[in-house]
Amino acid sequence: MISFILNDRVYTTGLSPGAVTLDLLRKEAGLTGTKEGCREGDCGACTVLLGIPQQQGIKYMAVNSCILPAGELQGRHLVTIEGVNLEEGLSPLQQIFVEEGASQCGFCTPGLIMSLTGYLLGTVDPDDVAAVDSLAGNICRCTGYVSIRKAAETVSGKIGHSPAGCCTSLEHLEWLVEKKILPSYFPGIEGMLQAMDTTNGSGTNFSEHAVTVAGGTDLFAVKAEELRNTGLRFLSGEMGISGITISESRVLIGAGATVRNIIDAGIFSNSGNLERSLELIASTQVRNRATVGGNIVNASPIGDLSIIFLALDAKLRITGGSDSREVRLKDFFRGYKVLDLSPAELLESLEYTLPDSATFINFEKIAMRKHLDIASVNTAAAFIVRDGKIEKADISAGGVAPIPLYLERTSAALSGMEVSTGTALLAVRTARSEVSPIDDVRGSARFKKLLLGQLIAAHFAELFPQEIDVKELL
Ligand SMILES: Cc1cc2nc3c(=O)[nH]c(=O)nc-3n(C[C@H](O)[C@H](O)[C@H](O)COP(=O)(O)OP(=O)(O)OC[C@H]3O[C@@H](n4cnc5c(N)ncnc54)[C@H](O)[C@@H]3O)c2cc1C
Ligand code: FES
Ligand code: FES
Repeated sequence: MISFILNDRVYTTGLSPGAVTLDLLRKEAGLTGTKEGCREGDCGACTVLLGIPQQQGIKYMAVNSCILPAGELQGRHLVTIEGVNLEEGLSPLQQIFVEEGASQCGFCTPGLIMSLTGYLLGTVDPDDVAAVDSLAGNICRCTGYVSIRKAAETVSGKIGHSPAGCCTSLEHLEWLVEKKILPSYFPGIEGMLQAMDTTNGSGTNFSEHAVTVAGGTDLFAVKAEELRNTGLRFLSGEMGISGITISESRVLIGAGATVRNIIDAGIFSNSGNLERSLELIASTQVRNRATVGGNIVNASPIGDLSIIFLALDAKLRITGGSDSREVRLKDFFRGYKVLDLSPAELLESLEYTLPDSATFINFEKIAMRKHLDIASVNTAAAFIVRDGKIEKADISAGGVAPIPLYLERTSAALSGMEVSTGTALLAVRTARSEVSPIDDVRGSARFKKLLLGQLIAAHFAELFPQEIDVKELL
């Protein structure tokens, strides 16, 4: 049995932990306000809020219910569009959508309202740009985005900022209740959860053949049906797997840390454009669940985090029973979806050297659209430069081989070279000769090879604008 709080009441289900939350809501609980669109985490129609108890308070985040397994609900608070309705009248968010004409057929509207509510639950200082960005995982097929954007831009002006000195998470909830963004039952949920058994029971009794679920954003986007009645091991129920620590010179990231956790921890704030680049991975909903470990073990040749951590020359810690070992990320990928990881092992964490002021880092990604798309080709580069010379280069590339690729020859060729246009051209040529992409839906092999060269050139143009003659490079 899985027990959790659904909106304002305790709910217990006998569904299997691998059933997806969207089906629980629509088919079992009869809550049909949450819409079913793509069932792949792609459209946002099924967006709900997941509230996870913390040491103090509850952390709420917008997630896609179509790729959220029910086993993740144990001891948590699940909020649907019905759960943010007020007893009387429309909430200010709903009212803004009416006033701005931001809803036509209405199919996407519950998801949009839930994403905006999730945004307001996560900030004490709402602003227009971030409010619009929070909707990047929601697709509308009939209203058009101008009025939806206008509605989102109106939110912060309408509700203002939380009071100075605010907030504990309870005070924040109370402020949102006062503003009628949330109904009045919200502040009482923490007490209700404390009165329940909040251990993730469904995740702790697993067999040795159980499938490991981290965020589930890969697993449930592609094989939800297959996983419905499979034994699952939920990593989010296990202690100590998602922490992020920074010591003087090392960064340690638990495999269960999500993209959101990495952004919030600020570990990339001094690492070139990496922090900004993370905001382009998938959508708010997916970033709230997608983990580092899942990105690496899924071994997609275009996994953005794999590509970034290859350039940071990360080391993985892998555990199996009482044994623990280390492997460099660049040695982890052995062939298409073939890894240096046995079924009995778990990726526990990864570690890399904190970049210093001599390290220049850049990430480039070309995809068919800006948000909610994986790359056609992506690449990251980290250069240690002293006295105008490249002391060490680490360059990676995705979409150009069966694995996320560390560009061994290109990286080695740059060692000891001056930072110059000539060196950048050498890097472009070597990278193109080092890869052997294939034709697929994301582009022809020739296109991807050309693209990689352009992106390698972009690393140099972005990082060394004084030293590089861009016209000569192109
Ligand atoms: C709509 C959408 C958009 C996306 N966009 C992007 C994008 O822009 N860029 C990108 O890189 N990815 C993208 N993805 C893919 C996905 O979100 C990421 O790869 C994510 O990081 C996977 O992490 P997860 O925790 O959800 O993995 P899961 O689905 O939980 O797991 C993936 C695999 O890893 C295994 N696994 C997970 N953790 C461990 C561990 N610690 N030890 C051993 N095995 C483990 C699982 O058993 C499974 O085989 C997108 C996905 C969706 C649905
Ligand atoms: S139904 Fe499209 S994201 Fe869930
Ligand atoms: S209002 Fe129809 S899909 Fe958005």
